[in-house]
Parts: sequence; structure tokens; C-alpha cells
Amino acid sequence: MTHPLDEHGQLISADLHGMMALTLDFPAQCERAIALAQAWSLPALPREPRLIVVSGMGGSGIGGDYLHALFALQGDLPVLVVRDYHLPHCVDAHTLLFAVSYSGNTEETLACYAEARTRDAIIVALSSGGELQARAQQDGVPHLQVPGGQPPRTALGYLFLPMVVLCERLNLLPDMGSSYARTLQRLVQARERWGIHTPYESNPAKQLASALYGKLPLLYGSGGYRAIVATRWKGQFNENAKQHAFANTFPELNHNEILGWVGAKRQAGNFAVVALRDPDESRQTRTRIEVTRRLVGDAADWHEVWAEGESLLERLLSLTYLGDFVSLYLAYLNGVDPYTIDYIDLLKAELARVARGM
Ligand code: F6R
Repeated sequence: MTHPLDEHGQLISADLHGMMALTLDFPAQCERAIALAQAWSLPALPREPRLIVVSGMGGSGIGGDYLHALFALQGDLPVLVVRDYHLPHCVDAHTLLFAVSYSGNTEETLACYAEARTRDAIIVALSSGGELQARAQQDGVPHLQVPGGQPPRTALGYLFLPMVVLCERLNLLPDMGSSYARTLQRLVQARERWGIHTPYESNPAKQLASALYGKLPLLYGSGGYRAIVATRWKGQFNENAKQHAFANTFPELNHNEILGWVGAKRQAGNFAVVALRDPDESRQTRTRIEVTRRLVGDAADWHEVWAEGESLLERLLSLTYLGDFVSLYLAYLNGVDPYTIDYIDLLKAELARVARGM
């Protein structure tokens, strides 16, 4: 019998807004994003930045987390991600602020943009258009326009990679060398292995989605950048598959969440842990994961996925890409449209109504 996830024709025609097609396009999107930022006429910075802040929400904020992960290993500046209406007190004229909003209309990001102007921060705005672009143009603030017309969560390439290229061009990150080319190549290979046309029996993304169907996934990053990727997986499970998922990371979860497993079986019988791992994890982390797995015991299914590639960028983006596919397959199994985000739209409309004083 054909596995439900191998009914390509049916799945694709039910995916009314082409989320699978957008996901299959991700490697090409990354390539376009890199080229766009390399060709952009980057203005000289008026001052040397001492801090980088990325202001963005949801799909536009996660690129800031990814930038943070790169700087943690390869950069000299601290990176803060702000997902709120206000900037921290430390933001000043020596802060480089990336204001990122795919639509350009997200009120929290616009509020931070306005606040950054009053602090005289060095601002670079990134959006596909909207109010952010209009304000930047009016204020003479550099604005990088990325192609629009797709859900922000499918536009991670556009929302993350331009910041990497710009930081590299500003000598805030070391030269990426062949890392971009290798990353693009790996993403293309990953698409072959995890994409819709690869049958269930040889497709680890379909297999994992199938194993997670009807379960409550707990995504455990094995520290470092895997913590951030676990959060991205969670967001994709929420927005695409319309289901709960929770993310945590080693070693932190060994200091609190681990005790939740004592009474877990009283709460639910359908937990599934997915450990997001890296071949270069420390010995301590490996030990923590082994012991945690033993302690979880039969209170949850246990799955492991491993990052692949040499450079951090390759590992970061390919592990992310796997989660994108799994979330789409889960959406199909859950019988929901991965595109729609009714509750987010409703909240935005309600907030806009309140802002207009209606
Ligand atoms: C929708 C999505 C959301 C948005 C968020 C902010 O696909 O991922 O999380 O990213 O509501 O909107 P933008 O990105 O337009 O600033």
C-alpha cells in the first residue's frame, strides 16, 4: 500500500498555496539572498559598532538568532535579538541595529526602528517593502529590499543570509570563503533526500513526520546552535502543522525540565523527544544526552537527528531544512493547510484596529 506521504499528486493539490514548492525552492532562495546582499551598495558605517541588535518577530526574528549563533563561534561582537516593542537601555550610537520585517509592517519592529532613531543607532533595515521601507527611504536609512510575496517563515534565506553577507563585508565576521557554495550544495542534496518525490521508505523526513504524527514533540537541542534550530523547528510545527511542540536545550534542560519526566506519564502518553545533535558535541553533552534518554525511559518515544556538513553555516541551515520538511509532512498528515495562520492574522488585525482607535 502506498504511504499517505507518497500520494504526491493529492498532497500537492491540497497544498493550495504551494508551501512545498516554496520549501523546495529554499536552496535557490539562499543563493539569491547571498547574491543580492553581495551586490547591494553598502554605505560606509559612520562609527565602529560595539554591539549588534536584530529587531524582528516570528519568522523575521529567527534570522537574528541564527546570526547570534554565527557570531557566538566566529565573531567579535555581541548580538542581541529583540522581540518586543522596546530596545534595551544599552542600545546607543555604537549599536548596529538590523530592523527586520518581511512584510515591513510589524508594529513591534517599527517601534524598535523608531526608538533606534532616537538613540542615534546605526540602522540597516531589511524588508520586502511596507512601512519599514517607506520610513527608511524617508529617513535616509539604508534599506535592503528582498523579494516579497511568500510567508516570512519560508523566507529564512532572505531574512538571515543578507545580514551574514553584510557583516562579512563590514569585517565584523571572517571571510566565509567556500562556505556559501558548500552550504548551497548541501541544501540541494538535502532537498533530494527529504523532498516530496523521495518515497517514504528512503526519506528520513517523511519517516520522522510519520513517527511524530499524533504525538507531542519535545525538541531538544544538544546545546550551541542546536538550541536555536530546535526553536525554529518548534515554530514551524506550530505555524505549518498547527500543533503544539516544545523546545529546550542541553545542558539547561538537565537543570529543570528533566524532573518533568518523573510524572510525565500521569500527564500524557504521547510524548516524543527529538534530539537535535551535532557530530562535534562535547563528551559532557553526549553523556548528558545518554543519561537523559535513560531517565526518560518509556515515558516518551526518542528520536535523534544529526547535523551534517563541515562549516557551521552548512550544519545550521541543513538541520533547519530537515525541520521545514518534517513540519510540512506533519501538516499533510494533520489534514491542515500549512500556509494559513489565521490566529496570527486575527491578532494583527485586532491590534491595528486598536491602534486606529476603533
Ligand atoms: C508568518 C510568520 C510570522 C511573521 C511575524 C512577523 O509566516 O512566520 O511569524 O514572521 O508575524 O511578521 P513579519 O515577518 O512580516 O515582520
